[in-house]
Parts: sequence; structure tokens; C-alpha cells
Amino acid sequence: MQDRRREWLAAIATVADETALAQVESRLLGKKGELQELLRSVSQLDKSERPAAGKALNELKQDVEAALAARRATVSAQSMERELAATGFDPSQPGPRRRIGSLHPITIVQQELVDLFTSMGFSWQDGPEVETEHYNFDALNIPGDHPARESQDTFWLDDGNLLRTHTSPVQVRTLRRFAKDFQPPLKVIVPGRCFRAETVDKSHEHTFYQMEGLVVDRKVSVANLIHTMKTCLRVVLGRQDLKVRLRPGFFPFVEPGFELDVNCPFCGGKGCSVCKQSGWIEILPCGMVHPNVLRQGGIDPEQYTGFAFGMGLQRVVMLRYGIDDIRLFMGGDLRFLRQFPTVSK
Ligand code: PHE
Repeated sequence: MQDRRREWLAAIATVADETALAQVESRLLGKKGELQELLRSVSQLDKSERPAAGKALNELKQDVEAALAARRATVSAQSMERELAATGFDPSQPGPRRRIGSLHPITIVQQELVDLFTSMGFSWQDGPEVETEHYNFDALNIPGDHPARESQDTFWLDDGNLLRTHTSPVQVRTLRRFAKDFQPPLKVIVPGRCFRAETVDKSHEHTFYQMEGLVVDRKVSVANLIHTMKTCLRVVLGRQDLKVRLRPGFFPFVEPGFELDVNCPFCGGKGCSVCKQSGWIEILPCGMVHPNVLRQGGIDPEQYTGFAFGMGLQRVVMLRYGIDDIRLFMGGDLRFLRQFPTVSK
């Protein structure tokens, strides 16, 4: 009996896979298996020997079952390992690291600007990206036959609406919202996405970001405009020695209208390739709100004046980080995007 046990357990221990294991199991414990044969032989024994022989066989059966179960566990673990090795999967390797995204540079600068302007008492207004012709053009003093429409060629929708070409339509929307019981001063900023049918190149995009600003109160003047712009640009460009100058600029919804330049942050005004040796960089259009626009918004231009500006966010971001191709912003190249921080300061 001891020899039998040794032989059987050895047979189980050397089995290499599940099929062979099943074969051994049926050979040993099956209906026509060797254990059954032994059990049958017990009946031929002398009566006095039967109980001891039966007990010994039962123990043998239990040992064999335990050995089979243990071997089955080992064999199935081994076969799982083999399978994984064949797929090249290595469970001991660390899992993929979770990448934390970074903020888009336009988001960073926009957040800073919003923080700055809200600290000066401005509130954030929103407007639709799909705009009516009325708000985008007519209400801003740009009727259908006006040549200024040429410079803001846009995407028209089949229903007669359009993708807004600037954030200025929100000027009139905001004025109308507040006109009923107007409580001056009105100070708003409107960061947002705009669209133009441009041929895309290093400095032109069909989709871009602006931040409109509008202040309406009694006695608002160009001096207020200059002061606000200086404060804002000093903060975003991080320079205390920043100077600005105004040149005349034409936009039908402001009068007078200006192009505001800053002294070149790269050469300090001495002249370099970025400022094309002029020492100045054109940074944003602005002006005093045209009386017709105030009227369109339901505000009496005899009592109130205002200034407005339209900052191209990409332009400011490019100056701030020294980026020379506007297409990088929308290009989706992660190598570009990963250079910016995951959270703003
Ligand atoms: N909306 C004008 C543009 O996109 C910019 C602008 C805004 C000019 C406000 C003057 C005042 O070209």
C-alpha cells in the first residue's frame, strides 16, 4: 500500500498540464480506476482485515484528492503564466503613469487677466459664438455696405447667422441688459472665442481668442483708457517699465479709435527683429465708445461716455512667452502644450 501511495503521488506531482492531470485523475479515482479496483479487492479479504484495509484506502483516497487539488492549482497558475509570457505581458511591471495635463497658455493668460480685471471691479460677461448679423455688425455701426465688413470676413451659417468675428457684439448685448435701470459705472470684460475666414499662416488663425473690455460712466475719458491699459499690460507682460502710445485706428464702433502700442518687451525699445526695428509693438485696438453704439444699447450718449478695447489674447501670449507661430495654439502638438504649468500660479 505504501508503494502504491508513493507511486500515485509521484505520478500526480510530475503531471505537466491540465489534460494530463485529468487523465491521471480518472486512472486513479475513476469508476474503472485503480482505487475502485483496490476497494473491490477488500471484499475478498478476511472479514477481520476488512475494516483496517477500508480505512487505509479511504485515507489514500483523501491524500490523492488533496494532491490532485494542489497540483491543479500549480498547473493552472503555470499555464496562466505561460499564456501571459506569450503575449509579452509582464505583471511585475509598474502600470502606466497617469499624466497630468497642463494648462493651455491662452487659459493661463486669460485667467490672469480675469483676476486682474475683477480686482479692478470689472465683471465677466459672456456672449454667443454663433451671433446675429445685427449684433456682430449693424449694432456696432457697421451696416451691410460698410467697407469695415471686408476686414472681418466671417463664416456665415445657412440660417443667416454667423460665427462672431470679435467679442465686440457683447458690448451691445451687455448695454441692453443693463440699460433698463442703468447703475453706472458699468465695467465688464468678455473673454471669448472668435472666428474669421482667414488664410492661416504664422500670424493668422481662423479661430482665435479675444478679451473685450467696456467701461461706461459719466466723464470716462481717454486718460482712463490709457491708465487701465497700462496697468493691465504691465501685469500680463510682467514689466514695470512698460510704455504705451496711441496711434489713430479706425473702427466704426469707437470714436476716436486707436491702435495701442507698447515699447518692445524684447529690446526695451531699442529696436530688434520682433518689433521690426521700430521699438514699438502694436498690441491692441481700443477707443471711446461711439455714441451710436451707446444709443443701440439704450444708453444716453449725452450723459454717459465709455471706452472699449479688444485684446487679441494670442498676441499677448506670444509676446509673453516668445512664441513666434500662432498655429501652435490650435495645432494640438503635445510637445508644445506640455511646456506650460499644470496649474496657474
Ligand atoms: N473688435 C475689434 C476687432 O476685433 C477690436 C476693437 C475692440 C476695437 C474694441 C476697438 C474697441 O478688430
